[in-house]
Amino acid sequence: MDVTMSLTVNGEKKTITTDPSRRLLDVLREDLQLTGTKYGCGQSQCGACTVLINGRAVHSCVTPVGSVNNTEVITVEGLARGDVLHPVQAAFLAEGAIQCGYCTPGMIMRAVALLDSDPNPSDSTIKAWMNANICRCNGYTKILNAVRRAARQNLEVTVP
Ligand code: FES
Ligand code: FES
Repeated sequence: MDVTMSLTVNGEKKTITTDPSRRLLDVLREDLQLTGTKYGCGQSQCGACTVLINGRAVHSCVTPVGSVNNTEVITVEGLARGDVLHPVQAAFLAEGAIQCGYCTPGMIMRAVALLDSDPNPSDSTIKAWMNANICRCNGYTKILNAVRRAARQNLEVTVP
């Protein structure tokens, strides 16, 4: 039976009436046309579908949409401000941390969650945190460099 849910997606209030057991990933991609969030494994193993729910990095492929009622969801489309990229997006670009790009939205969302909670993570923290996401192109060195760059820029912005 369909239910009606309210949530905020990338700063906009949305009212969605659907089967609450549907994957958040599918609702984002199919109902809201937010196709930046990717389907990889569908089993909470690869991180391609990572979004932020109330600031936490979550795998939207295993998240029933019924569980996100009254939450704030941020997808990769919600990061830039107009033409100005989010610092993590800019760092991925600057480091060339993108090959086919399929993992990139999930990598970026996971890195955003890390830097929001820990603006100055140690290298081992970055590696452990990003280890949850898989890059089939094996671009890990540049991805880690991008997260390090974003963290450095974070510090330059936040530390007087
Ligand atoms: S598609 Fe969700 S973790 Fe792989
Ligand atoms: S850039 Fe291709 S999967 Fe990561």
